Amino acid sequence: MSDSTLLAAPVASDDSMIEQGEQAGASLSSAAGLGHAELLVRDAVPASLISMRNIWKTYQMGSEQVHALRGVAFDVQKGEYLAIIGPSGSGKSTLMNLIGCLDTPSQGEYWINGKLVSAMEDDELARIRNMEVGFVFQTFNLLARATSLHNVELPLIYAGIGSAERHEKAERALAAVDLADRMTHRPNELSGGQRQRVAIARALVNHPSILLADEPTGALDTKTSHEIMMLFERLHAEGNTIIVVTHEPDIAKRAHRVISIRDGEIDKDERIK
Ligand SMILES: Nc1ncnc2c1ncn2[C@@H]1O[C@H](COP(=O)(O)OP(=O)(O)O)[C@@H](O)[C@H]1O
Ligand SMILES: [Mg+2]
Repeated sequence: MSDSTLLAAPVASDDSMIEQGEQAGASLSSAAGLGHAELLVRDAVPASLISMRNIWKTYQMGSEQVHALRGVAFDVQKGEYLAIIGPSGSGKSTLMNLIGCLDTPSQGEYWINGKLVSAMEDDELARIRNMEVGFVFQTFNLLARATSLHNVELPLIYAGIGSAERHEKAERALAAVDLADRMTHRPNELSGGQRQRVAIARALVNHPSILLADEPTGALDTKTSHEIMMLFERLHAEGNTIIVVTHEPDIAKRAHRVISIRDGEIDKDERIK
Protein backbone atom coordinates (compact mmCIF):
# COMPACT_ATOMS: atom_id res chain seq x y z
CA MET A 1 0.00 0.00 0.00
CA SER A 2 1.40 3.41 -0.89
CA ASP A 3 1.58 6.00 1.85
CA SER A 4 -0.85 8.21 -0.06
CA THR A 5 -3.39 5.42 0.47
CA LEU A 6 -2.39 5.16 4.12
CA LEU A 7 -2.82 8.88 4.64
CA ALA A 8 -6.11 9.00 2.81
CA ALA A 9 -9.22 9.60 4.84
CA PRO A 10 -12.77 9.97 3.63
CA VAL A 11 -14.30 13.42 3.45
CA ALA A 12 -15.09 14.84 6.83
CA SER A 13 -18.61 16.05 7.35
CA ASP A 14 -17.78 18.35 10.26
CA ASP A 15 -14.83 19.93 12.10
CA SER A 16 -14.50 17.22 14.69
CA MET A 17 -14.05 14.68 11.89
CA ILE A 18 -11.41 16.87 10.24
CA GLU A 19 -9.51 16.96 13.55
CA GLN A 20 -9.78 13.22 13.89
CA GLY A 21 -8.58 12.85 10.32
CA GLU A 22 -5.56 15.08 10.94
CA GLN A 23 -4.66 13.17 14.07
CA ALA A 24 -5.01 9.89 12.23
CA GLY A 25 -2.88 11.26 9.36
CA ALA A 26 -0.20 12.53 11.76
CA SER A 27 0.05 9.25 13.65
CA LEU A 28 0.15 7.29 10.40
CA SER A 29 2.93 9.49 9.00
CA SER A 30 5.03 9.16 12.16
CA ALA A 31 4.34 5.43 12.12
CA ALA A 32 5.64 5.39 8.52
CA GLY A 33 8.81 7.14 9.75
CA LEU A 34 8.24 10.37 7.83
CA GLY A 35 10.12 13.26 9.40
CA HIS A 36 8.84 16.83 9.57
CA ALA A 37 11.17 17.88 6.72
CA GLU A 38 9.71 15.26 4.39
CA LEU A 39 6.20 16.44 5.15
CA LEU A 40 7.28 20.00 4.30
CA VAL A 41 8.79 18.83 1.01
CA ARG A 42 5.53 17.12 0.18
CA ASP A 43 3.69 20.42 0.58
CA ALA A 44 6.16 22.41 -1.54
CA VAL A 45 5.20 23.88 -4.92
CA PRO A 46 5.81 21.08 -7.43
CA ALA A 47 8.09 21.41 -10.44
CA SER A 48 5.65 19.34 -12.55
CA LEU A 49 3.06 20.99 -14.78
CA ILE A 50 0.33 18.98 -13.02
CA SER A 51 0.53 17.47 -9.57
CA MET A 52 -2.39 15.52 -8.12
CA ARG A 53 -1.82 14.57 -4.50
CA ASN A 54 -4.09 12.17 -2.67
CA ILE A 55 -7.20 13.35 -4.52
CA TRP A 56 -10.61 12.29 -3.24
CA LYS A 57 -13.93 13.23 -4.79
CA THR A 58 -16.98 12.29 -2.82
CA TYR A 59 -20.58 12.88 -3.85
CA GLN A 60 -23.34 12.90 -1.28
CA MET A 61 -26.31 10.91 -2.61
CA GLY A 62 -29.05 11.27 0.00
CA SER A 63 -27.65 9.54 3.06
CA GLU A 64 -24.95 7.72 1.08
CA GLN A 65 -21.47 8.89 0.10
CA VAL A 66 -20.17 7.90 -3.31
CA HIS A 67 -16.37 7.99 -3.50
CA ALA A 68 -15.79 8.65 -7.23
CA LEU A 69 -12.03 9.12 -6.66
CA ARG A 70 -10.15 7.50 -3.79
CA GLY A 71 -6.69 8.87 -3.17
CA VAL A 72 -5.53 9.45 -6.77
CA ALA A 73 -1.94 10.72 -7.09
CA PHE A 74 0.14 11.42 -10.20
CA ASP A 75 2.27 14.11 -11.85
CA VAL A 76 2.33 15.22 -15.48
CA GLN A 77 5.35 16.97 -16.98
CA LYS A 78 5.21 19.65 -19.65
CA GLY A 79 5.15 18.05 -23.11
CA GLU A 80 3.71 14.68 -22.05
CA TYR A 81 1.05 12.87 -24.05
CA LEU A 82 -1.10 10.99 -21.55
CA ALA A 83 -4.21 8.85 -21.95
CA ILE A 84 -6.54 8.16 -19.04
CA ILE A 85 -8.50 4.98 -19.54
CA GLY A 86 -11.00 2.99 -17.50
CA PRO A 87 -14.38 1.30 -17.66
CA SER A 88 -17.66 3.16 -17.36
CA GLY A 89 -18.19 4.46 -13.81
CA SER A 90 -14.49 4.23 -12.89
CA GLY A 91 -14.15 7.99 -12.30
CA LYS A 92 -12.78 9.25 -15.66
CA SER A 93 -15.19 12.16 -16.06
CA THR A 94 -14.76 13.14 -12.42
CA LEU A 95 -10.99 13.19 -12.88
CA MET A 96 -11.25 15.09 -16.17
CA ASN A 97 -13.42 17.75 -14.49
CA LEU A 98 -10.75 18.18 -11.82
CA ILE A 99 -7.85 18.31 -14.29
CA GLY A 100 -9.79 20.85 -16.38
CA CYS A 101 -10.48 23.07 -13.35
CA LEU A 102 -14.23 22.62 -13.78
CA ASP A 103 -14.52 21.29 -10.23
CA THR A 104 -12.42 20.99 -7.07
CA PRO A 105 -11.61 17.83 -5.08
CA SER A 106 -13.24 16.95 -1.75
CA GLN A 107 -9.81 16.31 -0.36
CA GLY A 108 -6.21 16.46 -1.58
CA GLU A 109 -4.08 18.95 -3.48
CA TYR A 110 -4.22 19.73 -7.19
CA TRP A 111 -1.49 21.94 -8.59
CA ILE A 112 -1.31 23.25 -12.15
CA ASN A 113 1.62 25.38 -13.27
CA GLY A 114 2.60 26.17 -9.67
CA LYS A 115 -0.92 27.19 -8.65
CA LEU A 116 -2.92 25.37 -5.99
CA VAL A 117 -6.24 24.83 -7.79
CA SER A 118 -7.82 22.69 -5.05
CA ALA A 119 -8.07 25.70 -2.74
CA MET A 120 -9.66 28.05 -5.30
CA GLU A 121 -13.09 29.66 -5.32
CA ASP A 122 -15.25 29.51 -8.46
CA ASP A 123 -14.23 32.83 -10.04
CA GLU A 124 -10.52 32.17 -9.62
CA LEU A 125 -11.04 28.63 -10.88
CA ALA A 126 -12.71 30.00 -14.03
CA ARG A 127 -9.79 32.35 -14.65
CA ILE A 128 -7.21 29.57 -14.29
CA ARG A 129 -9.30 27.31 -16.53
CA ASN A 130 -9.41 29.90 -19.32
CA MET A 131 -5.67 30.44 -19.09
CA GLU A 132 -4.40 26.90 -18.61
CA VAL A 133 -6.80 24.47 -20.31
CA GLY A 134 -8.04 23.96 -23.87
CA PHE A 135 -10.98 21.54 -24.06
CA VAL A 136 -11.93 19.16 -26.87
CA PHE A 137 -15.22 17.29 -26.51
CA GLN A 138 -16.73 14.23 -28.16
CA THR A 139 -19.57 16.28 -29.67
CA PHE A 140 -17.34 19.26 -30.68
CA ASN A 141 -19.50 21.86 -28.83
CA LEU A 142 -19.29 24.47 -31.60
CA LEU A 143 -21.73 27.35 -31.97
CA ALA A 144 -23.98 26.17 -34.80
CA ARG A 145 -24.61 29.57 -36.35
CA ALA A 146 -21.06 30.87 -36.12
CA THR A 147 -18.32 30.48 -38.74
CA SER A 148 -15.15 28.50 -38.01
CA LEU A 149 -13.33 31.78 -37.53
CA HIS A 150 -15.87 33.09 -35.03
CA ASN A 151 -15.94 29.78 -33.12
CA VAL A 152 -12.17 29.91 -32.73
CA GLU A 153 -12.24 33.58 -31.74
CA LEU A 154 -14.64 32.96 -28.83
CA PRO A 155 -12.06 32.17 -26.12
CA LEU A 156 -10.17 35.30 -27.18
CA ILE A 157 -13.31 37.39 -26.76
CA TYR A 158 -13.62 36.02 -23.19
CA ALA A 159 -9.95 36.85 -22.67
CA GLY A 160 -10.66 40.46 -23.69
CA ILE A 161 -8.41 40.50 -26.77
CA GLY A 162 -9.13 43.15 -29.41
CA SER A 163 -10.66 42.24 -32.77
CA ALA A 164 -7.61 42.63 -35.04
CA GLU A 165 -5.40 40.44 -32.86
CA ARG A 166 -8.28 38.01 -32.36
CA HIS A 167 -8.74 37.63 -36.06
CA GLU A 168 -5.09 37.05 -36.72
CA LYS A 169 -4.74 34.47 -33.95
CA ALA A 170 -7.88 32.58 -34.98
CA GLU A 171 -6.70 32.48 -38.61
CA ARG A 172 -3.34 31.14 -37.54
CA ALA A 173 -4.94 28.46 -35.32
CA LEU A 174 -7.23 27.33 -38.15
CA ALA A 175 -4.31 27.22 -40.59
CA ALA A 176 -2.41 25.06 -38.06
CA VAL A 177 -5.15 22.41 -38.28
CA ASP A 178 -5.24 22.66 -42.10
CA LEU A 179 -8.51 24.58 -42.28
CA ALA A 180 -7.24 27.77 -43.92
CA ASP A 181 -9.81 27.20 -46.69
CA ARG A 182 -12.76 26.69 -44.30
CA MET A 183 -12.66 29.91 -42.25
CA THR A 184 -16.11 31.16 -43.23
CA HIS A 185 -17.90 27.80 -43.17
CA ARG A 186 -20.45 27.05 -40.46
CA PRO A 187 -20.40 23.69 -38.60
CA ASN A 188 -23.21 22.18 -40.75
CA GLU A 189 -21.11 22.97 -43.85
CA LEU A 190 -18.21 20.90 -42.48
CA SER A 191 -17.51 17.17 -42.08
CA GLY A 192 -17.24 15.62 -38.61
CA GLY A 193 -13.45 15.57 -38.79
CA GLN A 194 -13.37 19.21 -39.90
CA ARG A 195 -15.68 20.20 -37.03
CA GLN A 196 -13.38 18.48 -34.57
CA ARG A 197 -10.41 20.30 -36.10
CA VAL A 198 -12.22 23.64 -35.59
CA ALA A 199 -12.75 22.60 -31.95
CA ILE A 200 -9.05 21.75 -31.64
CA ALA A 201 -8.09 25.14 -33.11
CA ARG A 202 -10.42 26.79 -30.58
CA ALA A 203 -8.83 24.79 -27.75
CA LEU A 204 -5.32 25.86 -28.77
CA VAL A 205 -5.87 29.50 -29.77
CA ASN A 206 -5.04 30.79 -26.26
CA HIS A 207 -1.89 28.65 -26.03
CA PRO A 208 -3.08 26.75 -22.94
CA SER A 209 -0.74 24.66 -20.78
CA ILE A 210 -2.73 21.51 -21.52
CA LEU A 211 -4.99 20.25 -24.26
CA LEU A 212 -7.63 18.14 -22.50
CA ALA A 213 -9.74 15.90 -24.73
CA ASP A 214 -12.74 13.84 -23.62
CA GLU A 215 -13.44 10.94 -26.04
CA PRO A 216 -12.33 13.17 -28.96
CA THR A 217 -13.04 10.52 -31.61
CA GLY A 218 -16.21 9.09 -30.03
CA ALA A 219 -18.46 10.62 -32.68
CA LEU A 220 -16.20 9.97 -35.68
CA ASP A 221 -15.78 7.08 -38.13
CA THR A 222 -12.57 5.02 -38.09
CA LYS A 223 -10.79 6.87 -40.90
CA THR A 224 -11.60 10.31 -39.48
CA SER A 225 -10.63 9.16 -35.98
CA HIS A 226 -7.27 8.19 -37.39
CA GLU A 227 -6.82 11.65 -38.93
CA ILE A 228 -7.64 13.35 -35.64
CA MET A 229 -5.21 11.11 -33.74
CA MET A 230 -2.52 11.95 -36.33
CA LEU A 231 -3.20 15.62 -35.64
CA PHE A 232 -2.80 15.02 -31.88
CA GLU A 233 0.54 13.33 -32.57
CA ARG A 234 1.69 16.33 -34.57
CA LEU A 235 0.52 18.79 -31.89
CA HIS A 236 2.40 16.74 -29.31
CA ALA A 237 5.54 16.76 -31.45
CA GLU A 238 5.18 20.57 -31.63
CA GLY A 239 5.45 20.73 -27.83
CA ASN A 240 1.86 20.66 -26.60
CA THR A 241 0.93 18.75 -23.45
CA ILE A 242 -2.01 16.47 -24.27
CA ILE A 243 -4.33 14.50 -21.99
CA VAL A 244 -6.95 12.28 -23.63
CA VAL A 245 -9.70 10.64 -21.60
CA THR A 246 -11.11 7.59 -23.39
CA HIS A 247 -12.57 4.14 -22.92
CA GLU A 248 -11.09 2.96 -26.26
CA PRO A 249 -7.79 1.04 -25.92
CA ASP A 250 -6.89 1.87 -29.57
CA ILE A 251 -7.03 5.59 -28.83
CA ALA A 252 -5.11 5.21 -25.55
CA LYS A 253 -2.34 3.31 -27.40
CA ARG A 254 -1.50 6.46 -29.37
CA ALA A 255 -0.38 8.25 -26.20
CA HIS A 256 3.07 7.89 -24.63
CA ARG A 257 1.78 7.13 -21.15
CA VAL A 258 -1.42 5.44 -20.02
CA ILE A 259 -3.05 5.76 -16.59
CA SER A 260 -5.77 3.15 -16.01
CA ILE A 261 -8.35 3.88 -13.36
CA ARG A 262 -10.70 1.42 -11.74
CA ASP A 263 -13.22 2.10 -8.98
CA GLY A 264 -11.76 5.57 -8.39
CA GLU A 265 -8.17 4.41 -7.95
CA ILE A 266 -5.14 4.26 -10.23
CA ASP A 267 -4.77 0.67 -11.29
CA LYS A 268 -1.75 1.14 -13.60
CA ASP A 269 0.46 4.03 -14.70
CA GLU A 270 2.64 2.94 -17.62
CA ARG A 271 5.00 4.60 -20.06
CA ILE A 272 4.35 2.92 -23.42
CA LYS A 273 6.62 4.93 -25.77
N1 LIG B 1 -22.62 14.38 -9.73
C1 LIG B 1 -22.57 13.14 -9.20
N2 LIG B 1 -23.32 12.81 -8.13
C2 LIG B 1 -23.26 11.57 -7.61
N3 LIG B 1 -22.50 10.57 -8.07
C3 LIG B 1 -21.72 10.84 -9.15
C4 LIG B 1 -21.72 12.13 -9.78
N4 LIG B 1 -20.86 12.09 -10.83
C5 LIG B 1 -20.36 10.83 -10.85
N5 LIG B 1 -20.87 10.08 -9.85
C6 LIG B 1 -20.53 8.67 -9.55
O1 LIG B 1 -19.12 8.58 -9.44
C7 LIG B 1 -18.63 7.42 -10.11
C8 LIG B 1 -17.66 7.81 -11.23
O2 LIG B 1 -18.38 8.48 -12.25
P1 LIG B 1 -17.71 9.09 -13.56
O3 LIG B 1 -16.56 9.93 -13.15
O4 LIG B 1 -18.76 9.75 -14.37
O5 LIG B 1 -17.15 7.77 -14.29
P2 LIG B 1 -16.75 7.52 -15.84
O6 LIG B 1 -16.60 8.82 -16.52
O7 LIG B 1 -15.49 6.73 -15.76
O8 LIG B 1 -17.85 6.71 -16.43
C9 LIG B 1 -19.85 6.66 -10.59
O9 LIG B 1 -20.18 5.69 -9.62
C10 LIG B 1 -20.91 7.73 -10.68
O10 LIG B 1 -22.18 7.18 -10.48
MG1 LIG C 1 -17.54 9.58 -18.23
